[in-house]
Amino acid sequence: MRRLDLYLAGVKDARCRKYLSVAGAAALKAGGVLKGLYGQPHQIRHKGEIDLVTEADVASEKTVIEICSQGLPEAEILAEESNSDSDYAGVPGNLTWIVDPLDGTTNFAHGFPWFCVSIALAARGKIVAGVIYAPVFDDFFCACRGYGACLNGAPINVSEESGLSGSLVATGFPYDIHRHPRPVMRALEAMIVKAQGIRRAGAAAMDLAYVACGRLDGFWEIKLKPWDTAAGQLLVEEAGGKVTDLSGRNYNPFIPEILASNGKIHAAMTDALRPFSSAHMQGEVR
Ligand code: IPD
Ligand code: CA
Ligand code: CA
Repeated sequence: MRRLDLYLAGVKDARCRKYLSVAGAAALKAGGVLKGLYGQPHQIRHKGEIDLVTEADVASEKTVIEICSQGLPEAEILAEESNSDSDYAGVPGNLTWIVDPLDGTTNFAHGFPWFCVSIALAARGKIVAGVIYAPVFDDFFCACRGYGACLNGAPINVSEESGLSGSLVATGFPYDIHRHPRPVMRALEAMIVKAQGIRRAGAAAMDLAYVACGRLDGFWEIKLKPWDTAAGQLLVEEAGGKVTDLSGRNYNPFIPEILASNGKIHAAMTDALRPFSSAHMQGEVR
């Protein structure tokens, strides 16, 4: 936990220190659970045509819930595998953990090492703390609102790249892509002719953490869920980046389209992606 302590030493607010200690302990332990199961044969269940759940999603979520509910009993929990049907119209006002126990399940099931645990805490309608832990790389990202973002104990910042032609950007494809490929492919085409490179690595929370630490310059995706982006949004913002919807309007993790960047390429990204924002696609199936 030394890397978390290094960050917490600069966090004056005792409540934030507490929130992040609990989230950090949960993410590291759950990440250990995932790493232990990684590369083994899996029990795979389908939630949809291509949307999977493995025994590791469930075991990781159990670990996170145990630690988070013991550490902060007053908080509610919105976790992907146990209560994803909960009805939240926006960021909860009550203390609420928002948990993706395994972001990158398809990767995990195929033995592709790009996956992570993502845990955020909402309070008074804002995300106030977030951690993302990628166990195979042993990368531990954390942030508290107002205190900057950190990777393995060292402060991180978004990149300085100012042009799309020099940018490495990432995206992802929603689970209904087989039925609705057109808008996703058109948005990809709009970016592919402008960016230096595009990656689709398969874990949205990690894509956001990579924007926060400057390994990527930007990221966009549609139809994500709050647990995919809540911690990552905070990391990007605390690392000096910008997060909006595809048209550049205010974002929160309960909005199903996201555009995150280092800020410098944000206008160029919104120019390319605005036509695919839900605001501009009324009447069209996305
Ligand atoms: C998925 C990943 C993927 C993104 C999907 C998400 P899961 O989360 O973040 O990169 O493209 O839209 O649902 O199902 O692996 O937790
Ligand atoms: Ca996810
Ligand atoms: Ca997941």
